[in-house]
Amino acid sequence: MRVAVIGTGYVGLVTGACLASIGHRIVCVDSDSERAAMVARGETPIIEDGLPELVKDGLAAGRLSATTDLAQAVWDADVVMICVGTPSVGGSIDLSGIEAASRQIGAALKTRRTAFPTTFPIVTVKSTVTPGTTGQVVRRAIEIASNLRAGEDFGLAMNPEFLSQGSAVRDFLLADRIVIGEWDRRSGDALAQLYRPLPAPLLRMGLAEAEMVKYAANGLQATLISYANQIAAICEATPNVDHAQVMAAIHLDRMLDGPDGGRAGATRFLMGGIGFGGSCFPKDLVALSAHARAVGADPVLIDAVSSINTQRPEAALRLMEEAAGGLMGKRIAVLGLAFKPGTDDLRESPALKIARRLLGCGAEVVTHDPLPIVRQRARSQLPDGISVAETAEAALTGADAAIIATAWPEYRTWDWAAFADRMRSPILVDGRNLLDGIELPHRLRVLRPGIGPGI
Ligand code: UGA
Repeated sequence: MRVAVIGTGYVGLVTGACLASIGHRIVCVDSDSERAAMVARGETPIIEDGLPELVKDGLAAGRLSATTDLAQAVWDADVVMICVGTPSVGGSIDLSGIEAASRQIGAALKTRRTAFPTTFPIVTVKSTVTPGTTGQVVRRAIEIASNLRAGEDFGLAMNPEFLSQGSAVRDFLLADRIVIGEWDRRSGDALAQLYRPLPAPLLRMGLAEAEMVKYAANGLQATLISYANQIAAICEATPNVDHAQVMAAIHLDRMLDGPDGGRAGATRFLMGGIGFGGSCFPKDLVALSAHARAVGADPVLIDAVSSINTQRPEAALRLMEEAAGGLMGKRIAVLGLAFKPGTDDLRESPALKIARRLLGCGAEVVTHDPLPIVRQRARSQLPDGISVAETAEAALTGADAAIIATAWPEYRTWDWAAFADRMRSPILVDGRNLLDGIELPHRLRVLRPGIGPGI
């Protein structure tokens, strides 16, 4: 099938490249000509495992292309996918990008109608939007701009993505499920055909239900993290209790088993630490909460999930403060800046929050991330007073304490004895419970969140 993907951000580019890899003809559209040109040259503007190969293969096979010409792409497409950003602004979702894309698609559908009156293009929203958005905002914008009617002249669908950064290509091609919300049956049929090569179970439902699935899925994962963090916070105040011991037992609960009974998916979210960040969980919780209030529901649990999360960097700071005997004037190294390993994304990263708070407490803050692009971006985002070292050695030299803020796997294989020698005082807060089970030098004092007094 021919697909126009509007927006070459993280979701759009992964979707386009993966759909090309299963045999469809994809045109990626971006209003930013630099970005479109990059994709057309086979350069991937984001770091994502397996993506550069798929983009290159798609271009070489002639199944993937990139352009700024939205109208032409819409003219040529069987399916148009809206993959533009839906940031959070002032406590609710900002739909201006979605509306602008819908209007442009509508204008292109209008001229297309004159040239090809019998075709039935399908417009699909992939961006995360609150329930009602596709059926109301998107449909109206397209109908007004095109003078056409959804379900009669063009199809309308909502198809949420469940891509986790760092494993997005795998998550797409080996999806747990494909969810199709449909305004009209023809749209659902077309998308079912689009995804036929993928082995995942496919669920068809209403537009608003598909929109809700995305929030319910992210809300559940964030709830698991905050649940583990709430338990960690209680453990921190309870004598002789280590939260890691407690969670090791919880992880064996069969209720949490994956479908194959093997490594459970849910346990990956059930470990206390310094909290979640990224472009999805924080903003999706805010949007879900705002939507709930707007429809007269009380999102008490969702609000608690956010509020527990905001407390976690503080808990790590307290741990460090106690161990280092105060933070004022101390040199503190923050290890890892990306919001999670395997990505160059800094959005809502707990590491940046911790670095800023440390600075606010009068510490001299030196940060480091293994990815050069992350270091470069962090330099432009962090305030004066927080430096970004080029090497981990430089960050740790003379440090009074350090904190692991991102679970980069290489920290597990570091020569910690050599690093401890460089530190003025070898105190390490393992904010991600990453070093569990690793033999570490005795002189390195390792502290983890979730440990009560007396241990
Ligand atoms: C998340 C979901 O996992 C995807 O299923 C979803 O499709 C995606 O959002 C989206 O809406 O697009 P992502 O934000 O890439 O994906 O990352 P996660 O691996 O879920 O991690 C999110 C944050 O939670 C990270 O900051 C991570 O460090 C943190 N986290 C994770 C914890 O603090 N504790 C944990 O136990 C696990």
